[in-house]
Amino acid sequence: GAAELGPYRHYMQKEIFEQPRVIGDTLEGVTGIMPELFGDNAYKVFKQIDRVLILACGTSYYAGLTAKYWIESVAKVPCSVEIASEYRYRDSVPHPNTLVVTITQSGETADTLAALKHARSLGMVHTLTICNVATSAMVRECALAYITRAGVEVGVASTKAFTTQLAALFLLTLTLAQINGRLSDDDEATYLKQMRHLPVALAAVLALEPQIIAWAEDFARKENALFLGRGIHYPIALEGALKLKEISYIHAEAYPAGELKHGPLALVTEEMPVVTIAPNDALLEKLKSNMQEVRARGGQLYVFADVDSRITSSDGVHVIRLPEHYGLLSPILHVAALQLLAYHTALARGTDVDKPRNLAKSVTVE
Ligand code: G6P
Repeated sequence: GAAELGPYRHYMQKEIFEQPRVIGDTLEGVTGIMPELFGDNAYKVFKQIDRVLILACGTSYYAGLTAKYWIESVAKVPCSVEIASEYRYRDSVPHPNTLVVTITQSGETADTLAALKHARSLGMVHTLTICNVATSAMVRECALAYITRAGVEVGVASTKAFTTQLAALFLLTLTLAQINGRLSDDDEATYLKQMRHLPVALAAVLALEPQIIAWAEDFARKENALFLGRGIHYPIALEGALKLKEISYIHAEAYPAGELKHGPLALVTEEMPVVTIAPNDALLEKLKSNMQEVRARGGQLYVFADVDSRITSSDGVHVIRLPEHYGLLSPILHVAALQLLAYHTALARGTDVDKPRNLAKSVTVE
């Protein structure tokens, strides 16, 4: 009811603003990297596995895609990510030394549960879930679990569940890295410090809301949008596009920016807003040339740029600057800005933000 919403107009907005706190809650008590965070038996299990298979649906699947970048680059463990409804019905090649990781807010998604059982039927017994509901079917089914502490998520479009999943998956990455002898004490200390600072860093991104509202006024009049990201921010572009289509009903697509020339560039006209995630990372210069390709066709760029990325506003280039560059954890900050963009665009269009048409919070039938 209204009392619970406090100063917010919708649960989605409230849940976006809860993220600093619930990420803190999810990481509470993590004073060091240790396998036991994932269950009593985790050390033994993690020692036996040499690859990771992530299974999930929807927004949780995009958390998995982000984690793949982390797991392969930091822990050096091969990782594949599959949409649960596809995996359960396709012929795949099982490998017994796989850590099967399901990611699910509810712990009740029928396709994800079926995918888990399918993996087990193929002889993969090492199972872990990243789940927001401790009493769910998924937690009962998996040998190991990390419970995110997002609290109850009411908005159908997932926000705080996603960022707490990312926090948990980063912890999993560091744990696998440690087991593989790829996490020095210095690295551990640095990453822990970054994780502890996340709530403050995220609050600074949420403080950009007034600037994002100004953009949302433009977006509300569009029927299409393109989202670009590269590397670890490509899954974040996918999630930003998903948020926008779910609640504002604007057709949105995400592409890794390097793929522009292989198709989506044909869609770019003055009518096409192109949201670009521009963190100050190794791919920034490449991204800048992708942005020029868009400008040359008249596309309107809406760029979320890190503080030190030296991208400035100009004709057709709108820039919102994120307060700090956050390295490997940057996706958690950038996605919050995209959540706010989707939220305020939907608000301006007058849609039923918390209960978008045709969608359900948790899909417990196939
Ligand atoms: C539904 C929800 C999404 C969610 C997906 C997976 O489609 O509307 O927000 O990402 O299910 O749900 P899960 O509970 O498994 O994370």
